[in-house]
Amino acid sequence: MTDQRSLHNQWSSRLAFILAASGSAIGLGNIWKFPYLAGENGGGAFVLVYLLCVAAVGVPIMIAETMLGRRGRQNPINTMLSLAQEAKANPAWHYTGWLGVISGFLILSYYSVIAGWSMLYIFKMNSGLMHHISPESASRIFEELKYSPEIQFIWHTIFMAATMFIVSRGVSGGLERATRFMMPGLFVMLILLDGYALSSEGFSQGISFLFKPDFSRINGESVLVAMGQAFFSLGLGMGAIMIYGSYLPDHVSISKSTIFVASADTLVALLAGVAIFPIVFANHLEPTMGPGLIFQTLPIAFGQMPGGSTFGALFFLLVFLAAITSAIALIEPAVAWLSENRAMPRETACLWSGVACWLSGLGTVFSFNVWSDVTWFGKNFFELVDFLTANIMLPVGGILVAFFAGWIMRRENSEEELEMGSAYAYWRFAVRYVSPFAVALVLLSAIDVI
Ligand code: PFF
Repeated sequence: MTDQRSLHNQWSSRLAFILAASGSAIGLGNIWKFPYLAGENGGGAFVLVYLLCVAAVGVPIMIAETMLGRRGRQNPINTMLSLAQEAKANPAWHYTGWLGVISGFLILSYYSVIAGWSMLYIFKMNSGLMHHISPESASRIFEELKYSPEIQFIWHTIFMAATMFIVSRGVSGGLERATRFMMPGLFVMLILLDGYALSSEGFSQGISFLFKPDFSRINGESVLVAMGQAFFSLGLGMGAIMIYGSYLPDHVSISKSTIFVASADTLVALLAGVAIFPIVFANHLEPTMGPGLIFQTLPIAFGQMPGGSTFGALFFLLVFLAAITSAIALIEPAVAWLSENRAMPRETACLWSGVACWLSGLGTVFSFNVWSDVTWFGKNFFELVDFLTANIMLPVGGILVAFFAGWIMRRENSEEELEMGSAYAYWRFAVRYVSPFAVALVLLSAIDVI
C-alpha cells in the first residue's frame, strides 16, 4: 500500500494480538453493562438473543473487520480508502472509517465516567467500609456517588488522563503487559464470585432468571439492545479491531484468533451475570436497577467474604484495568488518524482527542444529577449517547464492514487473507447474506422504538 504502512509496528506474535483484542473486547461491557441490560430486558430471553447475535452476526463481522485491517494496514479511514481503491470501488467507503472514529470517541466519553466509578470503588472496598454492608447502605453509597458531579468529575478526569498517557506511549508496550496479567486475574476473581453465588440462597432463582428464556419479554427494543450489546462487547463496527488487525503479522490465522477472543468475551459476560443475579435475588433487590447494578450488588457479596475488602478492591482494580485496555482501543482510531494523516506528533494527537473526549464526558457526569431531567426522546445525555453509539452507529458500521468484505472486496483477496480452507464458504455466506440483512432488519424493525 502506501508508505504509511511503515508507521505501524506489528504485534510481536499471535498471542500479543489475542491479548490486545481481548483487552479491547473484555471491559465494562461484560462486567457492568451486560448484567444490567440482561436485568432490564427480562433475563433469559435477552441472553439467548445476545448469544445468537454474537455467533451469527458478531463473529463473521469480527473476522471481516480484522481482515480488512490487516490488508489495509493503516488507520480505519485510510484502510477503507485504499481497499476501496484496490477493489476499484467508490472512495466514499472511507466514511465507514469516519463513522468508527466518531463512535469510538463518543463511547469513550461516557466509558471513562463509569470506569471512574470503578476506580473509586477500589478505594471504597479497600477502606473496609463495605464490610458486612447491608443492601440499603450499598445503595446509599452508590447514590451518593451518582448524585455528586464533583466526585465523578475527579475520577473521570483521572481515568481519561491515565488512558491518554498510555496511548501516547504507543501501541504495544504497556498494553501487552497490562493485558497479560489482567485477563487471568479477572477470570479468577469472577470464578471466586461465582463460587460465592453458588452458596447463596438466591442461586437457583438467579440462574433461572439468566438462562430460562421467557419469550414474552422479547420485543423490538430488546432485540435491538441485545444486538447492540453484541457489537459493543466484541468491540465491533468502529475500526478498533480493524486497527488491531492492521498490526497483525501475515501468517496468523484470523478466524481462529477471532473465535477465541469472542468466546473469552462471552464467557466473561456470562460469568459476571452468574455472579450478580443470585446476589440480587438473595437480597430482594430489583434486577432492573440499571447502571448501578454491579456497584450495589457486588459490595454485598464481598462484604460477607473473609478477606472481602481486599478481594473487593482487587476486583475493582481488575475492572479498571479491563476498562483501560478497552478505552485505549476506543480512542486509537482517532489518534492514529490524527498522527498519520495530520502529521501530528502522537503526544499532541492524544492531548487533543483526550481533551475533547473528556469535555463530552462531562455531559454524562451531569446526566446522573444536575441534568437528569434534561431529556431527548425520553433519554438523558448518557442514555442518548449510549443508545446512538451501541444500538445504531456500531451496527451500521458492522453492516458496512460486512457488505464491503462480502460484496466489494475481491474474492481472491479475502480468500488469500483468511486462509480458512473449506470454512471460507460459510464465512462468505454469513457476511454476504446473514449479517448485513439481519442487522438491517433489526435496525428497521426498531425504527418505531426511536
Ligand atoms: N468491548 C468493550 C467492552 O465490552 O467494554 C467496549 C468497546 C471497546 C467497544 C472497543 C468498542 C470498541 F471498539
